[in-house]
Amino acid sequence: MRIDILTLFCDMCNSVLGESIIGRAREAGKVEINTRDIRNYTADKHRRVDDKPYGGGMGMVMQAQPVFDCFNSLCDEIGAKPHLIYMTPQGKTLTQERVKELSKLENIAILCGHYEGIDERVIEELQPEEISIGDYVLTGGELPALILADSISRMLPGVLSDDSCFEEESHYNSLLEYPQYTHPAEWNGREVPEVLLSGHHANVENWRREQSLLRTLQRRPDLLEKAELTENDKKFLDSIE
Ligand code: ADE
Repeated sequence: MRIDILTLFCDMCNSVLGESIIGRAREAGKVEINTRDIRNYTADKHRRVDDKPYGGGMGMVMQAQPVFDCFNSLCDEIGAKPHLIYMTPQGKTLTQERVKELSKLENIAILCGHYEGIDERVIEELQPEEISIGDYVLTGGELPALILADSISRMLPGVLSDDSCFEEESHYNSLLEYPQYTHPAEWNGREVPEVLLSGHHANVENWRREQSLLRTLQRRPDLLEKAELTENDKKFLDSIE
C-alpha cells in the first residue's frame, strides 16, 4: 500500500514516520508512506498558501489552488487517483472497522488542513472522505493524519511481528483487551494472576476471554452491543451483572 500525506509540515510528519514499527516497516518496504509539501504547488511568488477569510474573522484559510495542484501532481505521479481523506473535526469519527477497510486499498492520500481550515471550494471539487479522530480540536491535521497512517499501516501483512496480534487486541472484535503481565511474577507486593503461571493453555484462554468481557462491561458497555458473543460469554456476563 502507498500512503501520501499532503501537508505544509513534512518534517513534523517525517520525524514520526521514521521511528519505531512504522519506520522499520517503511524501510522493509511493507508500506510506502510519503509526505508531499503543499507549499511546493503554490503559484504565488512569495510561496504563500493561505490568506484572510472572506467575510472577516480570525486566522487564515488555506487556498484552494495549491491543495488542488498538489493532489493532481500526486495523481499524475501514481497514474491513478488515490482515495483522498481530509482530516477534519467535522468528519466521521475514525473506528477500527474503517481502519480495517482502508487497509485494503492500494493508494490513499491524506490531506492535512491548518490554520482555520481549507477553502471550501477545493473540498467540493475533490470530495474527500472526511475523517475526525475525535470530538476535540487540534491545531492542524498532521497529528490526525499520522494517527490514521499508523492505524492503517499496522494492519498490513508483515508490519507487526505476528499477524495474529491484532486479533486479540482492543477494538478488533469490539471487545477491550485483557490485562497483560510480564516479569517479575511479584512486583511491589502485587502478584501476577495465578492462572497465567499455570501453563494451562485452555484455562489461560478462558481467563483472558472473561477479563476482556469484564473490562468491556465495566469501561465500554456500549461496545458489547456490537460484539460477537458466544453462549459461554453471555452466561459469564449474566453471572456478574
Ligand atoms: N484537525 C483538527 N482537529 C482534528 C480532529 N479532531 N480530527 C481530525 N482532524 C483534525
